[in-house]
Amino acid sequence: MPSVRRSPWVFFYRHDGTFVDVPRLLEGNVELTPLRRTLAISILKGEEYVVSADELALLFAIPSDTWISSDEVATGSSATLERLARRGLVVTDDADEELTELRRRDQRLTDDQWHPYAALYHFLTRWRDVDVEQLPAWAGETGTSTRLLNEADVAELVRRLGTPPRPFADVAGPHYELPLTRRRGRLYETLARRKTSRAFDARVPVTGDELGTVLYYTFGCRGIAEVFGGLVAVKKTSPSGGALHPVEAYPLIANVEGIAPGLYHYDVESHALRLVETLSRNSARRLARHLTAGQSYFGAAHVLVVLAARFPRSFWKYRRHQRAYAVLLMDAGHLSQTFSLVCTELGLGAFVTAAVNGANAEERLGLDPTREGVLAIVGCGRASAERSELEPEFAPFAPRRADS
Ligand SMILES: Cc1cc2nc3c(=O)[nH]c(=O)nc-3n(C[C@H](O)[C@H](O)[C@H](O)COP(=O)(O)O)c2cc1C
Repeated sequence: MPSVRRSPWVFFYRHDGTFVDVPRLLEGNVELTPLRRTLAISILKGEEYVVSADELALLFAIPSDTWISSDEVATGSSATLERLARRGLVVTDDADEELTELRRRDQRLTDDQWHPYAALYHFLTRWRDVDVEQLPAWAGETGTSTRLLNEADVAELVRRLGTPPRPFADVAGPHYELPLTRRRGRLYETLARRKTSRAFDARVPVTGDELGTVLYYTFGCRGIAEVFGGLVAVKKTSPSGGALHPVEAYPLIANVEGIAPGLYHYDVESHALRLVETLSRNSARRLARHLTAGQSYFGAAHVLVVLAARFPRSFWKYRRHQRAYAVLLMDAGHLSQTFSLVCTELGLGAFVTAAVNGANAEERLGLDPTREGVLAIVGCGRASAERSELEPEFAPFAPRRADS
């Protein structure tokens, strides 16, 4: 019998809810029946499972810090033990391919210094094969829609949740009016023109020169500094926690002059594209739509760039650090704003989305998800003249007339 250890990458959650008992409903009882369940949350699988009292007792009988023989715990319960192992709740030294992979992930998360709460958040909120069009319009027990709400959806939300919070925060205290000066110049004009584009003109490709400019001015390295002991800080046009710049860029190219459609990695050191996979233009678009969770307007962009964090680059320094994962998300946010501004300056439309099928993107790029994970996708292209119906019509707003 193999040796076993409970994975330390498991959380437990007691869930109190209700359900409709159909047989009782057919007898004319319309009340909701209470449902109390214990969930074991497996970071290794990115899934949560309902566990019975017996399974829970077995899990608690297995230590997470030492290997023990399964004989010691599994008398008459080897099938249960195998089920728990396949759910990533215990790891075993069994040579089975799936169980070996789960053991490898368990060890990687520990060796690479993941913070347990960061791992819980990252792996349990990662999407696979989600299509936002299929999601309900309002938050249910299990999720919230990303799709644009129509008038009926909003009415339903207001009915369920009451009126939405005001757009501006009200904070009590003395009030000091600030000077409001109208500024001119490229930076201010570019900031004013920046917007999310959701309609692209496929007839005119993006040029190779434009793509090179966007990638270089967003992700390109502009300075390096050896901090100590071989740790090299990197300078880009965006800030990065610890100057580590752990976020990598993977362009998915559909419509760029002189560059074959396909999936690439942007090699920062040599400012070059490395081919991951060649695609036809149509399959590049289909992949773009799938990776942006069914958002066909983003799937039609000329170029998408998958942003993926190299976790060991960050966690080597910020070891099991409570804030390190938040810094990765902020890094991705900064890069996305720089990307949008460079595109705007070039006259290209741009967007960012966090509604992404990260698990699918990682598989397609051949990434080990414990070491490199997708955070967001940005994209750009030749914006078409007509406004997307998804784009809110923003009326100009100013707190008051500018002083000068
Ligand atoms: C982190 C982040 C995620 C976003 N995700 C989506 C998305 O999934 N789909 C989408 O259509 N827009 C997405 N947006 C764009 C916002 O809807 C957009 O910024 C907002 O409507 C304001 O419009 P503007 O960017 O033109 O000012 C996202 C923006 C941010 C910053």
